[in-house]
Amino acid sequence: MTVTIVGSQLGDEGKGALVDLWGGDADVVVRYQGGDNAGHTVVEGGEEYALSLVPSGAVRGKVGVLGNGCVVNPRTLFEEIGTLRERGLEPDVRVAKRAHVIMPYHRRLDGIEEEAKADSDSGLEVGTTGRGIGPTYEDKAGRRGVRVGDLLDPDVLRERLEYAVPQKRALVEDVYGLDVGEELDIDALHEEYAEFGRRLREEGMAVNCSDFLHDRRESGDNVMFEGAQGTLIDVDHGSYPYVTSSNPTAGGAATGTGVGPTVTGRGEVVGVVKAYLSRVGEGPMPTELDGDEREETLASDIREKGGEFGTVTGRPRRIGWLDVPMLRHAARVNGYTGIAVNHLDVLGGLDELKVGHAYDLDGEERLSLPATTERWAECEPVVREFDPWEAFDVAAVAEEGYEALPAAARDYLEYLEGQLDTPVYAVGVGPDREQTVVRTNPWE
Ligand code: GDP
Ligand code: IMO
Ligand code: MG
Repeated sequence: MTVTIVGSQLGDEGKGALVDLWGGDADVVVRYQGGDNAGHTVVEGGEEYALSLVPSGAVRGKVGVLGNGCVVNPRTLFEEIGTLRERGLEPDVRVAKRAHVIMPYHRRLDGIEEEAKADSDSGLEVGTTGRGIGPTYEDKAGRRGVRVGDLLDPDVLRERLEYAVPQKRALVEDVYGLDVGEELDIDALHEEYAEFGRRLREEGMAVNCSDFLHDRRESGDNVMFEGAQGTLIDVDHGSYPYVTSSNPTAGGAATGTGVGPTVTGRGEVVGVVKAYLSRVGEGPMPTELDGDEREETLASDIREKGGEFGTVTGRPRRIGWLDVPMLRHAARVNGYTGIAVNHLDVLGGLDELKVGHAYDLDGEERLSLPATTERWAECEPVVREFDPWEAFDVAAVAEEGYEALPAAARDYLEYLEGQLDTPVYAVGVGPDREQTVVRTNPWE
């Protein structure tokens, strides 16, 4: 049995909290795309863990796998494992030999290109996390990347570096006219990354991901696929070019791990939805609350209450009303079997509550997203108002369940179920593992 957890919006929907909750019934938790651009928060009994690369299931002692679709920064990986060990956990992490490695020059190039875009007035600046994600996926597609398996063989690693590094050096020096440092020193890179390879081997961490998951499934294990990022920052289905460079959508779970789509497709695919909208980085956001001072105050209240500051970069997140056309798109692209709606508590006690039910584009009402970002930016939300609900007693709701939610909150959820034709499996009313109301456990 498999369960795939996918972000339905622009990232930070609370995927970590759901993976933690339902990861209790999984044996193996697998990331299938992205890298340390993710920031997943798990809160257990008031204790908070912020994970960017190690799968969230590690907090529950599950085997965590970084699939071949991931890009892995070994510095982050070992640092994060070290921090978890200091906090008394024993994370068991495996890394696909086919996954690509984020090298220090990828991070450098990420920063350089963002700056070049900003300077060019092209409007192309993405506001990346600066983790080298894009340049690493570029090298993967360009067939000049370094893979985890290459770290295990010092000779192969040297060959890869000897081809790639002079190219990158020329790019930095000759194209951008900048100085290079240790990030483009072949010997220094070789020494550090061969040592990472030695550690991966010594600790038995490098695996053939497809075989590993096949064997675990044969022995009866439950596998959970932990999506990072979100549907609208998917490189194919998102708001290109304001996207990340991988496929966070459900199809990525198959290509990013070597498990067939018939397997993931027989399992459950749960979309995580934030009850409003947040975005870090650039790109359109038709329901953004930034029109006037009143909206800005409302956004700032929601930001404070929801703790809407990036886990990875600390950037304040942009805030908007729930965008329903975006969710219709996500439900279709991912083929959800259910959704989990988080942060319902944050909306409690507001004076007004709206959603973007549809878009107005050139005077026509549309229920889904235009395929180009330029057209999407021209969409005006067709707003639907809801009765706001009072702030509620989170502990009581967590204890008593769905029926204890205010009636107006249940109306909001049932509206969503109807629009997406997908049942609400769970409702988040706070960050802690205990603060999720479960209506359907996807494993059962
Ligand atoms: P992810 O990237 O999708 O895993 O989400 P993040 O961890 O980056 O951001 C979600 C934030 O909201 C974290 O601080 C979570 O602890 C918190 N959170 C998750 N679910 C809820 C919820 O239902 N209510 C509230 N108030 N906070 C939540
Ligand atoms: P989680 O898993 C929110 C955004 C960045 C930027 C764009 C590209 O925590 O939901 P990148 O560094 O990936 O090249 O940046 O994508 N972004 C995220 N936004 N949550 C994330 O991850 C994100 N990962 C990347 O802000 O706009
Ligand atoms: Mg996050």
